[in-house]
Amino acid sequence: MKNPIEKSLTELVISRIKAENPRNQEILTKMVRHLHAFIEDVEPTEEEWRTAVDFLTRTGQTCDDKRQEFILFSDVLGVSMLVDAINHRSASDSTETTVTGPFHALAPVYELGDTIARGSEAERGEPTVVSGRVLDSNGQPLKFATLDIWQSDDMGYYDVQDANQPEMNLRGVFKTNEAGEFWFRTIKPAAYPIPTDGPVGELLRASGRHAMRPAHIHFWIKAQGYKDLITHLFVAGDTYLDSDAVFGVKESLILDFEKNTSTVDASKWKVSTPFYHVHFDFKLESK
Ligand code: BEZ
Ligand code: FE
Repeated sequence: MKNPIEKSLTELVISRIKAENPRNQEILTKMVRHLHAFIEDVEPTEEEWRTAVDFLTRTGQTCDDKRQEFILFSDVLGVSMLVDAINHRSASDSTETTVTGPFHALAPVYELGDTIARGSEAERGEPTVVSGRVLDSNGQPLKFATLDIWQSDDMGYYDVQDANQPEMNLRGVFKTNEAGEFWFRTIKPAAYPIPTDGPVGELLRASGRHAMRPAHIHFWIKAQGYKDLITHLFVAGDTYLDSDAVFGVKESLILDFEKNTSTVDASKWKVSTPFYHVHFDFKLESK
C-alpha cells in the first residue's frame, strides 16, 4: 500500500516553484514531475539511491578542463543525440548533424592540400585524401567557409589521449577557396572506445554494452550568415556502424573511403600509393 505522502508530494514540490523566468518554471516543473514518476516506477531502495548519488558525485569529480564526464554520460544515454535531433528538425536540405564529443580543441590553421598527420602517424597510417565543397542549401558554393577537423589516429587514439603523439596531431582548420572547395591529406581513422576508466565506463559494463565508436572524422564548419554545422564522416564497412556507443551514426554520413592505386592521382594529391579518397559536399543551413 502507498504511503499517503507519495500521493501529495509531487504537487507540493511543484507548488513551491515560483521561477521568474517562464521557461525555468516549465523546465523545473517538468523535471520534478518526471523525476518523481521515475522514482515511483523504480521504487529504489535507500542503498540504490545512495549508489546513484555516489555515481553522480564521481561523475562530477571526473570532470576537469580536459575531460567532461557529464557530457559522456549524456552521450551514452542517447540524450546528446536527442537534443541534436530536436534542434535540427527542419534542416531537411542540409547535411545531417551529430555529436561534438569531448575531443575538439583549438587547431592549427593549414593551407588547402596540407596534411594534418604529424609524427609517426604520418608514416605509419594509410594515406587518405578528403575533398569536397561547402554549399548552401540550394547548392551554391560558400567561399572562405572554415572547416575545423579532428580525428583519431590509425590505432584509435586522439592526440590528447596519447603521450606518444605530437600535440595537435590530426587536427586542423582549413578555408574553402573561391569555388567553395576544400581538400586536405590525413590518414584513415580507426574505430575506438570512448573513455571507460570513469563512472560512464562502469555504467556501460553494468548495462552489458561495448564502448566502441565506428571510425570517423569530425567536422565543425562555419560560414558567415549560416548555422554552424557539427558533424562526422564515417568510414563505410566499419564493424561498429550499427552499434555506436553514443548513437551518433546517420546513414547519409557513411562514406566509401575508396582505395586508389593510380600513381597519376597520387601525384596530383601529393600522396603515396595506395591511398584512400573520400569526397563529400557539406550543405549548411542559413541562419
Ligand atoms: C568522439 O567522437 O570523439 C566522441 C563522441 C562522444 C563521446 C566520446 C567521444
Ligand atoms: Fe571522435
